[in-house]
Amino acid sequence: MTTLAPIEIDQSHFRSVMGHVPTGVTALSVMTADHDHPCGLIVGTFASLSLDPPLVTFSVAHTSTSWPKVRAAGRLCASVLATGQELVVAALSRKQANKFDDVAWTWSEYGSPQIVGAHAWIDCEISHEIDAGDHVVVIARVLSMDTGTATTPLVFHKGRLGGYREGA
Ligand SMILES: Cc1cc2nc3c(=O)[nH]c(=O)nc-3n(C[C@H](O)[C@H](O)[C@H](O)COP(=O)(O)O)c2cc1C
Repeated sequence: MTTLAPIEIDQSHFRSVMGHVPTGVTALSVMTADHDHPCGLIVGTFASLSLDPPLVTFSVAHTSTSWPKVRAAGRLCASVLATGQELVVAALSRKQANKFDDVAWTWSEYGSPQIVGAHAWIDCEISHEIDAGDHVVVIARVLSMDTGTATTPLVFHKGRLGGYREGA
């Protein structure tokens, strides 16, 4: 592969331009290894990767303090959040213990906490991790998946949370 000369991209310009790419908002959650409490984080990088085998992907910053616990669990539930769940985003994206104190959750089919009222749920198992800059790209195999009812997905765009209107 040809080695490309480094190009300086200003970080705030990178954030601003990439902020124009709308993303879904997904909560990744596990029960800690000692079964003491649910733990997790919000990602905007959750996406479909492969149909056969069924794989999904997301990226996590090396600075995440929740990621080592999620990684240790191996299996996690990805809850694709719906409009009206902005407080879930605030709680799970904060660097704090007991993020789930005010979050309604139930058990997923594969024993992870899943967020009540989400737009869709995907139980998955981590299969690959690839270091990429200041993040790790994670690939996970889908174990089980389902959709919620009558909800609108939450969308993150230009630094703000909003809703996608079907058929608009
Ligand atoms: C809309 C939104 C999208 C986010 N996307 C990501 C992401 O894709 N990867 C990531 O590592 N952090 C992402 N974050 C930040 C994390 O949710 C969170 O702030 C971070 O993990 C801090 O908590 P922790 O130290 O407990 O992990 C996002 C936050 C928000 C609000």
